[in-house]
Amino acid sequence: MKVKTQLGIALIAMMAATTLTAVAQNAGEATYKAKCQMCHGADGSGNTPAGKAMKAMPLTSPAIVKESNEDLIAVTKSGKGKMPAYAAKLSDGQIKEIVAYIRTLEKK
Ligand code: HEC
Repeated sequence: MKVKTQLGIALIAMMAATTLTAVAQNAGEATYKAKCQMCHGADGSGNTPAGKAMKAMPLTSPAIVKESNEDLIAVTKSGKGKMPAYAAKLSDGQIKEIVAYIRTLEKK
């Protein structure tokens, strides 16, 4: 009986963790669409008028895939070249969620 209960608890914990990840990803997606998509495109390709004009490289390019989450968070906070800085506009949590969402684009 005890084993069964523990198994049940483990299962519930696992399900809760999966749901939380999904929620974070959706939040990241929403923020990305609102703040980043105009330059970086829905698929991260940078294939938008603004992205092309500013030469935003695809977020799915090997050079960026190789960078750590911390690197991408740092660029998003401080900006780079024509890329605006978001430290004052987005919370650390929001930026983390966006980077998590960018990682899902890389896998497509
Ligand atoms: C106004 C257009 C614009 C917007 C909006 C924008 N970016 Fe960028 N982004 C750029 C440009 C241009 C570059 C290329 C910068 C360079 O390499 O000089 C870039 C580069 C990047 C890079 C790659 C940096 C690297 O390591 O080379 C990341 C990551 C990134 N942007 C994330 C974001 C995120 C996240 C958002 C939304 C919060 C966002 N960007 C919004 C224009 C934009």
